[in-house]
Amino acid sequence: MEIASSSKQVYRRATRGDAGRISALFKKAGFEHRHADWSYPSDWLGKPGFWICEQIEDGSPGDIIACLAAAADPPPAAWVRLAAASQEIKPDEIFAEMIRHVRVQMAADGVTELGWLPADHWPSAWLTDMGFERVNWIVTYVKFGMDKPAVGHSPAVIRRATPDDLDEMASIEEAAFEPLWRHSRESLRLAFGQSICFDVAYLDDRIVGFHYSARGFENDTAHLVRITVHPKAQRRGVGSSLMAAAMESYIRKDVSRVTLNTQLDNLASHRLYEKFGFRRIGERIPLWVMEIADRRVLNGET
Ligand SMILES: CC(C)(COP(=O)(O)OP(=O)(O)OC[C@H]1O[C@@H](n2cnc3c(N)ncnc32)[C@H](O)[C@@H]1OP(=O)(O)O)[C@@H](O)C(=O)NCCC(=O)NCCS
Repeated sequence: MEIASSSKQVYRRATRGDAGRISALFKKAGFEHRHADWSYPSDWLGKPGFWICEQIEDGSPGDIIACLAAAADPPPAAWVRLAAASQEIKPDEIFAEMIRHVRVQMAADGVTELGWLPADHWPSAWLTDMGFERVNWIVTYVKFGMDKPAVGHSPAVIRRATPDDLDEMASIEEAAFEPLWRHSRESLRLAFGQSICFDVAYLDDRIVGFHYSARGFENDTAHLVRITVHPKAQRRGVGSSLMAAAMESYIRKDVSRVTLNTQLDNLASHRLYEKFGFRRIGERIPLWVMEIADRRVLNGET
């Protein structure tokens, strides 16, 4: 007697119980994307933007064949933080389906846009078909040796950051960046615990800027993750004082090469970095963004 077997794919939110099968997927994925910053992939399990596609064989769960996690931290903009698809499948339609679920959820939560910084092996055609538009590029700068230019007098006072500064730093992020680029208080808190140097700048008894860096892949390298100055305090030498403080920290920590990323169109930051001897290298990553309409639009109510 022949027994009919049935196989289907089911989309659902990831739960903590999926952790093992999601790690197995990443180990043998044909396509994968990670943009975790200071978080661990498991931090997003159970959150509304983490979706999986699961193979169901004869009514029982089989492999997780694709996953996609998007998170708004802080709202109202979100990033695609994780995505993976098994080698055995053609993932474009599966990712499109997960993005549809994520988009409805995000619209309901008041998210306005979803960004994706994919590694270059992600076919642009997939992203375009899903509704993403390429709007910018992320460029990389590098500096060898920690010499610094003579920095003119700045009224800013630099000191090491403390956890008490997190609220003020999060407000500076909000004032200085468009939503997609803001670091949340929580991500600043995580960075605080993991960075190799983290200073704030004071002007008129208020925090007006900060910088922090992570250790690079090699021990004598660092990555300047962030330098932010409140718009009301810009062009007064605060950014230069913060960069000079970062250089001094790198010297103390035996760092001899520093990298950083910024947006192709962020000319103020390019000038600051070039003034400090950073040079742009060829590497660049496309920024894709999808506008998220509100729930009424998605439901066809308007
Ligand atoms: C980039 C940034 C940190 C510079 O801070 P700042 O306090 O204004 O910097 P400074 O006053 O020390 O200026 C340093 C140099 O940057 C350049 N610069 C700064 N702002 C500029 C602007 N709006 N246009 C052109 N050049 C600018 C100048 O060359 C300046 O040197 P100079 O005064 O000798 O000409 C600040 O503009 C900022 O926080 N921007 C928003 C956040 C951001 O984009 N961060 C970097 C990417 S992660």
